[in-house]
Amino acid sequence: MEFQDVVRRRRMVRRYAERPVDPAAVERMLSNATRAPSAGFSQGWEFLVLDTARDVGRFWAATAGRDAANPWLDGMRTAPVVIVTLSHRDAYLVRYSEPDKGWTDRDEARWPVPYWHVDTGMAALLILQTAVDEGLGACFFGVPPERTAAFRGEFGVPEAYTPVGAVTVGHLPDDGAGTGAAGSPARRRRRPLGDVVHRGGW
Ligand SMILES: Cc1cc2nc3c(=O)[nH]c(=O)nc-3n(C[C@H](O)[C@H](O)[C@H](O)COP(=O)(O)O)c2cc1C
Repeated sequence: MEFQDVVRRRRMVRRYAERPVDPAAVERMLSNATRAPSAGFSQGWEFLVLDTARDVGRFWAATAGRDAANPWLDGMRTAPVVIVTLSHRDAYLVRYSEPDKGWTDRDEARWPVPYWHVDTGMAALLILQTAVDEGLGACFFGVPPERTAAFRGEFGVPEAYTPVGAVTVGHLPDDGAGTGAAGSPARRRRRPLGDVVHRGGW
């Protein structure tokens, strides 16, 4: 697919067809994710892949609980694959304490913003874009803070790793339901370039 089509077609997809995803497509998403840029080439990202019904069920049980009626959850639960992206702050503090960077104090105040989260977000975008290129749908969403401990416990994730967001992956539903048309973009306009770009000054 043309790059511009990948960018234009990408939408968060919140309901999926009942078809398994080719494992090779998931591997390509992960492989592309590791092509993301990272500060100092620290690569402080990790990916927890859940691609069986049992593991996906464990994810939702840990992160969503057993709420009453929840159409969002009903749709998201149809995804056959969930990839949780996690950032690793310490990888950056260690990398930047190396001689070529020299931040031996490992002071977090040196960082303009937490690049470990930034880089993991860039990797997540490559997962989303690769899904589009594979003809699949995907949705990035956060793990609620009050569920992080349960998520860690369920999957044995050490404290040093922060879930930045999870990505559901699956085939687009045949009827197109949940493919973004009813999401926030239906109620909000995309901000035009004139509003967001400042040329030569603010
Ligand atoms: C950091 C981040 C967090 C998001 N969290 C959620 C979420 O919790 N649930 C959800 O359904 N969508 C979530 N989204 C998707 C946004 O709602 C979506 O990207 C936005 O409405 C624009 O729509 P589009 O991506 O389909 O173009 C998130 C997106 C980002 C980048």
